[in-house]
Amino acid sequence: MGFSICEHLARRGDRVAVLDVNGDAAQQAVKKLRGRGAQAMACAVDVSDRAAVEDALAQVRGELGPIEIMVTSAAIAPFDPFTEISLDSWERVLAVNLTGTFHCLQAAIPDMVAAGWGRIVTITSSAAQIMTSNHAHYVASKGGVVALTRAVSFEYARQGITVNTIAPHIIDTPMLRQARAELGDPTGDGGASHIPVGRLGTGDDIAAACLYLCSEEASYITGQLFGVNGGAVA
Ligand SMILES: NC(=O)c1ccc[n+]([C@@H]2O[C@H](COP(=O)([O-])OP(=O)(O)OC[C@H]3O[C@@H](n4cnc5c(N)ncnc54)[C@H](O)[C@@H]3O)[C@@H](O)[C@H]2O)c1
Repeated sequence: MGFSICEHLARRGDRVAVLDVNGDAAQQAVKKLRGRGAQAMACAVDVSDRAAVEDALAQVRGELGPIEIMVTSAAIAPFDPFTEISLDSWERVLAVNLTGTFHCLQAAIPDMVAAGWGRIVTITSSAAQIMTSNHAHYVASKGGVVALTRAVSFEYARQGITVNTIAPHIIDTPMLRQARAELGDPTGDGGASHIPVGRLGTGDDIAAACLYLCSEEASYITGQLFGVNGGAVA
């Protein structure tokens, strides 16, 4: 999903930095983006590590300039029955999904304040809106992302900075394939038959919404949760 978002932003001419804990994957992504003429760079960074996030953004400023847009897509999504969630697992999920979002926003916002313009898009999940089993740590982290997004949007609304969150539902990505490997696929179609539009979502579906939220035209939209779910969540 993060790569699709980078592709869409690069296609409209934005300079793009790909930050991922998997440095090789980030490098591969940048190679593809550069191959299509984009100005792009990669940083290996664990978003739960504040110093690493600050260091990565300093590199980005040095190479590409001040941060104008921040999209936070990195997350982990383990499945465990509630009473079997270890404290380590609970803390790691919150550290990556929620505190990682906090670090990225807090480290990027000063550039946007200085410019009087900025776009922030966080990625939550439909799991924060509807019932999901064995996912309490993930759901709590994604509920936190919604609340954080709204709180930050309010503080910066008069400074040209919009802050919104996208709630994907079932999107065909490595994360979904991993979940299917763990949980099986009872419907045999990854759940597509339960989605009103009749198919799984794609990274491009999310990226299209993200691109709009990062546009000039979306300057009046802030503090909102955007469901991109094929009609599955009202
Ligand atoms: N795929 C879905 O069906 C779905 C549904 C709802 C929400 N989401 C959300 O969408 C976002 C993107 O998910 P995806 O499906 O592309 O997942 P993915 O697993 O395919 O990609 C997640 C990326 O985050 C990176 N990452 C993991 N931990 C990290 C860390 N500590 N620091 C930096 N990078 C880290 C991974 O290396 C990976 O490249 C996530 O926030 C996820 O929770 C996905």
